[in-house]
Amino acid sequence: MSKQVILTGIRGNNDLHIGNYFGALLPMIDMTKKRAGSYQVNLFMPDLHSFTTPIDHSTLHAQIMHNLRVFVAAGLPLDNADVHIYRQSYVPAHSELTIILNSFTGFGEMSRMTQFKDKSSKLGDERISVGLFDYPVLMAADILLYGATYVPVGDDQSQHLEFTRDIAQRLNSRFGELFTVPASVKEQHQFFGKDQGLRIKDLADPTKKMSKSDETGKGIIFLNDSPEAAAKKIMSAATDDVGAVNLDFENQPGISNLLQIHALLSGESLEAVAEHHKGQTSYGELKKEVAQQVQEFLSDFQNKLTAVDDTELIVKIEASEAAMNTQASTVLTKVQKAVGLR
Ligand code: ADP
Ligand code: TRP
Repeated sequence: MSKQVILTGIRGNNDLHIGNYFGALLPMIDMTKKRAGSYQVNLFMPDLHSFTTPIDHSTLHAQIMHNLRVFVAAGLPLDNADVHIYRQSYVPAHSELTIILNSFTGFGEMSRMTQFKDKSSKLGDERISVGLFDYPVLMAADILLYGATYVPVGDDQSQHLEFTRDIAQRLNSRFGELFTVPASVKEQHQFFGKDQGLRIKDLADPTKKMSKSDETGKGIIFLNDSPEAAAKKIMSAATDDVGAVNLDFENQPGISNLLQIHALLSGESLEAVAEHHKGQTSYGELKKEVAQQVQEFLSDFQNKLTAVDDTELIVKIEASEAAMNTQASTVLTKVQKAVGLR
């Protein structure tokens, strides 16, 4: 019997920061290492999704390759036959299944999607694309083509996963068993363990999470920041005037955030790090230690990134894309037959 499939799409057109690294990248890589063997793990770049909101197309292709290298530098294994790493647009069945599913999807159903409402409210009418509206259908195709059961996604994507289950059930009841219905959001949480909710905060405003949507970039440590510049950002992180190092996210969010970053970088527990700094009455020492750690982490990471073997990466991606084209076409053909196209 073939293995159950775990599948997730990782966006490729972002500059990644340490929040993404510790909150998303590392957990995903750990999950991959832990589950491959018992499961087929599909990790793909939803490149067709990346311009549902306006972007700079001249950098997209390079950025996707760059982010794939970032995953490898962060530890994603390239030598595991159960792990498939591929780009959505290199498997044309994603687009073809989307067109078919579109005709079984309601306009009202898509209009109610929270992400569509959020994102479209930030764009003028002329800039809201049909692509953005159709985003969940393409996402459903991504999942259903491989019969994926487990799809680790954040809360903001749960509604899209529910839609995927709905459309799979809708076609199954109309045409017979075409699709594997993915596990419910609740079952996904049981399977993966509910997200621990790690949130690194913005250094300049520690009441907000570190997020690339902060345009000044002052409170964000990007993985491609120069180590020296990143150390400076830590040294000028906003703190408070309490005058004592306490782990207290409520009243001392800036200090607690630095302790958190310290713990993640050193691999020690948050409690141990807090204990280590307990009793200090000025913040200079904590900042200096964290600045040094960040500097070392980034230079080490950037060295690993330079050392990524592009040939090995491309060989892996192309092998995955060939295998995924075969898997996806089997499902697509079944659907084409069911709806009367074949
Ligand atoms: P951003 O807010 O920078 O746009 P995204 O919303 O694209 O980040 O999130 C991508 C992934 O990174 C998600 O899985 C999210 O949970 C994780 N993530 C984003 N920001 C942080 C943060 N500050 N701390 C921990 N994890 C984060
Ligand atoms: N929509 C997801 C996000 O914004 C990315 C994505 C696209 C995805 N297709 C998917 C995730 C299929 C899981 C499964 O993060």
